[in-house]
Amino acid sequence: MSVVVISGGQIHEAGGQRSATLIINTETGTVDDIVADGAAVQGDQTLDASGCVVLPGFVDLHSHLRQPGNEAAETIETGSRAAALGGYTAVVAMPNTTPCMDSAAVIGEVVNAGRTALCEIKPSAAITMGRDGETLAPMAELVDLGVRMFTDDGTGVQDDQLMRRALEYASSLATDDGTQIILSQHCEVDALSHPGVMHEGAWSAKLGLAGQPAEAEELMVMRDIALARLTGMNVHLQHLSTAGSVEMVRAAKAAGVPVTAEATPHHFCLTDAACASYDPVFKVHPPLRTDADVAAIRVGLADGTIDAVATDHAPHTPDSKEQPFDQAPPGMLGLETAFALALTELDLPLDRLVEMFSSAPARLAGLGARHGGPIEVGRPANLTVVDLEQTWTIAGDRLASLASNTPFEGRTVRGKVRHTLFNGEPVVVDAKAVR
Ligand code: DOR
Repeated sequence: MSVVVISGGQIHEAGGQRSATLIINTETGTVDDIVADGAAVQGDQTLDASGCVVLPGFVDLHSHLRQPGNEAAETIETGSRAAALGGYTAVVAMPNTTPCMDSAAVIGEVVNAGRTALCEIKPSAAITMGRDGETLAPMAELVDLGVRMFTDDGTGVQDDQLMRRALEYASSLATDDGTQIILSQHCEVDALSHPGVMHEGAWSAKLGLAGQPAEAEELMVMRDIALARLTGMNVHLQHLSTAGSVEMVRAAKAAGVPVTAEATPHHFCLTDAACASYDPVFKVHPPLRTDADVAAIRVGLADGTIDAVATDHAPHTPDSKEQPFDQAPPGMLGLETAFALALTELDLPLDRLVEMFSSAPARLAGLGARHGGPIEVGRPANLTVVDLEQTWTIAGDRLASLASNTPFEGRTVRGKVRHTLFNGEPVVVDAKAVR
């Protein structure tokens, strides 16, 4: 057994912090002891956390890791390194790979590749075979392999009846660990959004680019709230981007409908005005919206209408992304910059940030036993140590992701991950990945 000591930091607890030293057992991967600062402790490795807070590791509900099929853009290993550097100890991998994650064989491949990753890789699976929106995937078999989230992300399930059947099928399934199964939706009505490449509004008109109206998202949010009410089954609404969506989720929650929601850093930091450069780095689905939408997403995050920040980390190779705006694929990097952007841009207490980055997504992903806190003796040591005051400047070519398509190039942010521990093992030390 080896012992890792985290000393000099402020340990995050609900409602506050306390100065203490953490003693981690790398064999069990758990917190062995929490002792007063200055107490005599012996470890094989000491991590300096002075000036930092020690937080439960972050959990991302929404990452595109591109393996299998597009390993030139990202792999499970490189994506997990980016995640660890961003403070994440678990990531839910989206199923829009090639082949699609809709079978035991492909889920097994992802699980295997995840065994040597720098964070926990939790595969999600498609709701429909090949994400074609026509035939349901074999959910029962995939739940037995550990899948807890199903989504056709990249596209929404267009057929109302099929979505109802998917929810009914999922609600009939039990998990061996008592965690819940969630159907996650990329809310976009294709008939309204196609062939739009950005938000439909004053900017799309000015730039001569086809737009996607806010209503393309809102109609599916409305339908899925109705279906959650009808079936009693949870629907998780991915990457909300419009004020109307936030308002509907707020009302649905108040009425007791089982819906949850996430929002991305780009949807609370950027507007469609960024597309004026015609730079495809600002192309994403759902698209960047208006000032009023950004303001509503921020309020939704602050008041808990939106449960979690999710990155929608979407790496693309330079060759594919550097095409004209209307031809380039949508998507932006997110894992290494999400927490710093939230800390810098959202005026929220640390407790709320920890809920949005750790506890809520851990619970939604079915990972609450291992991730998301609290930091206590006997609990798994999935931790991130963050200097909340350190500023740094985002540069795509310095990110660990294989791709470099960050829309935040050159932006100075506050909050730097100094160390990350995954199952007790230091995987990021002094802001560098150990492998
Ligand atoms: O912008 C996006 N990119 N939105 C999605 O839903 C899919 C993602 C991707 O896979 O690149």
